[in-house]
Amino acid sequence: MHKHISLFILSLFTLYSVNTFANRPDSVYIFAYNTKPSRGLSFAWSGNGKSWTTIGNEHSFISSDYAQWGTDKKMHSPSLTRFGQTWVLVFALDDRVNQLAISTSADLFHWQPQDYVFLEGVGQCLDPIAIADKSQVNVYFHNKAGQWFATATSDFYHFSKPIASDAPNDNRIKAFVNHNEYQGNVHRVAWAEVESIINFKLATDVRAQQNAESLADDAQRFAALGSDTIKATLTIDASSPLAISDKLLGIFFEDINYSADGGLYAELVQNRDFEYDTHEHGREENWGSSQSWKLVGEGTSFTISTDSPLNDIQKHYAVLDVKTVGAALVNDGFDGIVVKNGARYDISFFARQLAGKAAQVRIELRNDDRVIGSAVLKAPTNSWQQYTAVIKATASATNATLAIIPTAPGSVALDFVSLFPQDTYKARKNGMRRDLAEALEALHPRFMRFPGGCLVHGQGIDNIYHWKQTIGPLWERTPQPNIWNYHQSRGLGYFEFFQLCEDLGCEPLPVVAAGVPCQNTAITSLGGGQQGGIPLGQPMQQYIQDVLDLIEWANGDPKTSTWARKRAEAGHPKPFNLKYLGIGNEDLISQAFTERYLMIINAVKERYPDITVCGTTGPFFEGSDYERGWQLAKQHNIDMVDEHYYVSPGWFINNQHFYDNYDRSASKVYLGEYASHIPGRHSTIETALTCAIQICNMERNGDVVAMSSYAPLLAKHGHTQWNPDLIYFDNQQVYTTVDYEVQRMCGQSQGDQYLPSTFMANNAKADVARRLSTSTVHDTKTGRTYIKLVNLLPNPINADINLNQIASILPKGASLNNIPAQLILLTGSYNEQKARASEPSDIVLREHTNINLPPYSFTIIQF
Ligand code: AHR
Repeated sequence: MHKHISLFILSLFTLYSVNTFANRPDSVYIFAYNTKPSRGLSFAWSGNGKSWTTIGNEHSFISSDYAQWGTDKKMHSPSLTRFGQTWVLVFALDDRVNQLAISTSADLFHWQPQDYVFLEGVGQCLDPIAIADKSQVNVYFHNKAGQWFATATSDFYHFSKPIASDAPNDNRIKAFVNHNEYQGNVHRVAWAEVESIINFKLATDVRAQQNAESLADDAQRFAALGSDTIKATLTIDASSPLAISDKLLGIFFEDINYSADGGLYAELVQNRDFEYDTHEHGREENWGSSQSWKLVGEGTSFTISTDSPLNDIQKHYAVLDVKTVGAALVNDGFDGIVVKNGARYDISFFARQLAGKAAQVRIELRNDDRVIGSAVLKAPTNSWQQYTAVIKATASATNATLAIIPTAPGSVALDFVSLFPQDTYKARKNGMRRDLAEALEALHPRFMRFPGGCLVHGQGIDNIYHWKQTIGPLWERTPQPNIWNYHQSRGLGYFEFFQLCEDLGCEPLPVVAAGVPCQNTAITSLGGGQQGGIPLGQPMQQYIQDVLDLIEWANGDPKTSTWARKRAEAGHPKPFNLKYLGIGNEDLISQAFTERYLMIINAVKERYPDITVCGTTGPFFEGSDYERGWQLAKQHNIDMVDEHYYVSPGWFINNQHFYDNYDRSASKVYLGEYASHIPGRHSTIETALTCAIQICNMERNGDVVAMSSYAPLLAKHGHTQWNPDLIYFDNQQVYTTVDYEVQRMCGQSQGDQYLPSTFMANNAKADVARRLSTSTVHDTKTGRTYIKLVNLLPNPINADINLNQIASILPKGASLNNIPAQLILLTGSYNEQKARASEPSDIVLREHTNINLPPYSFTIIQF
């Protein structure tokens, strides 16, 4: 059924656009309206201004991008006017805010990123009406009290101070489209303009149809192939290698899905500082200071106090008022505490005796009622002090608890209770869970991005991630609500991130917010979305200074630099040798964003010209943010830009030349977040192999694509906000995915030269051709060569590997007819979720070698 569908649509498109419109008038009317606020701006056209024909069946050519997905992002009362050659759209947002939305377009289908302008002293901006005159666009609106105001703009961002006004004549009309009556603006336009909009929509539909290509339909799509083995030839030409990035594959870390606390960060006590906050977790009723803690036993009370806390950051602490000894304050960890027989655990807490005679505090690891490890800590004094001990476990448990038992009546204050396994990755104190970090190590990442993702720019201005809050003594770090609806302890902060990069042997790629919070921020008293950004002036200057201080902290000399001294005090006197800095995360490229983004980039480049700055181009592979983000990158010579796209397998199959036409002299690309998504959002052979295709295509374009990272990286079972992820885990085990296998296979086979190669089936059909992909890279440092071959067909392929043009990369005297090599294979049915790569098997390559590529398989040959 799908076999010829794209061709069919394409020919329809051609016929429709060339023939059907042959007798149209020079100009027609266009009606701009929206069917409901959750949809965007639609168009209809008419020759007589009375009977209207919908364009693209009420397709939204622009819809609101303001504030939160799901509840917000509404377009109310759109008003469209034309100012010279520029179409100007204004619309109302939520009736709680004094903001007006504005966007412009030259053609009604490519729209500039939206701006949400604050208009002071008006209350609300409802029912806007835009009327262009010769020099400006006048906008009239009213507030909830019915008072009308007028403002004006000529640059579509700066608006004059609103003044009281009479209600203008409403320039909208009512019209019937598809038998429904709507209100909107009518303009007379050239027929060619309408035709362009129609063609744009048709082309969009063709692409959507292509991108819907799914392996589930392969039985029909490739029915004509029967069960034939397809013959194909791979030819590699090593005579003119292309220099490519040797940092192509890395990892993207974000504290989403409990990736940090309760995940990679090995701390076992949840809410160790009693700083969980009721507002940071939307669903759980009891979320707050005593989350994960409970009192077990009689004769003691457990309360939370804020009087004379440990410091200004650790505002809350626990008070145990013991009347009769025996009760325990118990923490049940992150879904229980895993304890290993014989392992050692560092226990520590801060305590202060509030009343009664000071007495020792007993600590127990408990498995149900059985004690499987214990320690006795000194009696607290009456000022805050830290107490430490080591517990050796006497048995294993998967669901243990930590119990704190004062040994005499009295009142004792406790804060910052930590239980940390000594067995961490590379035995680091305050380190990473070993099994998870080893799973990262096996990916052979060339860089690691941190701390996200949306977490970087945060849920509102107050939630922007500030790196300075995440270094130094743990109890002096500022905990923060996580944009993914839980708590960040910041135990895994910037120091731990840089140290982990060193341990993994990869480059750190920190990302800082571009001075604006996430465009999807919920509406608060500050507004929604980007909320206007960090105020320009002193707050923004301080923010820029913080970014510069990050580079100083990472690379500076402790003898001369305050920030470098902090790094040295934390145990790392040598510089971390930071080379990359990301600025912004898939932001809306609004004016508020742009001015702050460029201020930061300019300041960094002026002071640290050698740092590779990575900008941002929005959340999609096309559209207004992508276009404007790229335009900025080119105008301002930004070193590299971060692209993001989560797309269907069909997108990867049908967009294999995406980077082939990129401008080689412009900014480099960091594909910072990508994954192949199918309904149900599992990781399967289909998603993994389509990502393998993407990696082959990125390697071929490795002179432009400098870095890439699959996203997200980690997810804890039972706590996932996003699927699929590369690695799942629970407290005991790590569960890698099929996509992990592809990233691991490719991570281990990176090179710094691409050897031009072709992989052609003897079946000339386009459907077949685009299911084959290849890339050969050579690593000049090790002399190793890696051939990647993707067979995304339901049929086996018998491939002739033709090596007669690779002599230049072989060691002197080596025979083309006896090259010892290894082959690694990943294969399975298209919807298989458990497929794993084979162990490398030895093969011998000759000038011509026949290799069988099973249906739905990814093969790497290395020699
Ligand atoms: O990877 C999950 C999220 O996807 C990231 O936080 C964000 O940047 C993107 O939208």
